[in-house]
Amino acid sequence: MVSSLDGFIAKKDGSVSWMHSKDTYEKGVELTKEYVVEFLASIDCYVMGSKTYERALELGWPYGDVPVFVLTKRNLKSDKESVQFIAGELNEIMTKQLRTRFQNIWMVGGAMLTKEFLRLGLADELNITIIPILLGDGTLFFDYLGKEIPLHLKDVTAFKDGMVELVYEIGKK
Ligand SMILES: NC(=O)c1ccc[n+]([C@@H]2O[C@H](COP(=O)([O-])OP(=O)(O)OC[C@H]3O[C@@H](n4cnc5c(N)ncnc54)[C@H](OP(=O)(O)O)[C@@H]3O)[C@@H](O)[C@H]2O)c1
Repeated sequence: MVSSLDGFIAKKDGSVSWMHSKDTYEKGVELTKEYVVEFLASIDCYVMGSKTYERALELGWPYGDVPVFVLTKRNLKSDKESVQFIAGELNEIMTKQLRTRFQNIWMVGGAMLTKEFLRLGLADELNITIIPILLGDGTLFFDYLGKEIPLHLKDVTAFKDGMVELVYEIGKK
């Protein structure tokens, strides 16, 4: 997830320009094309909520031909062969349908689906990139999870443009 420092993952007006940092942090590392390509190549499939899917269609499809599973109770249709719509009990979908076929499953978001994953203990790792901005309004990532979840910090990377990537292992409780 990409988040503002005050915990928002989307603005109310839907604009995304805030996700591109204009800051400079001399001591940071360069976010290279190779880094991004290698990172994306490690993903076996994506899972996302229908709102995130619809927003991705508007912004320009970034997932190529990698399988994408969209959670929805609506009867949505797609002309992309890589897209499949699913509904049902999340625990069953993950353990019976996806974990048996895919190793590295990337839960893209949004906030609603992420919170369900965290509440159900379905996520192993949390990867969040903080943009140096306070948005003040929008969709909050972790509001009222209603559950305490211990985390183990696995990695931190500060980039030259002021973005900070935090990788946490999620403790099971
Ligand atoms: N900053 C980031 O890194 C980042 C990442 C991802 C998304 N986003 C942003 O987050 C916003 C969307 O987030 P959101 O929280 O509003 O929505 P969301 O989580 O993307 O989608 C919510 C929808 O997913 C479906 N859903 C959720 N749980 C389900 C279940 N167990 N079974 C079946 N369907 C289920 C429902 O769809 P139906 O109503 O169709 O049934 C629900 O309305 C967008 O603006 C997007 O751009 C930001």
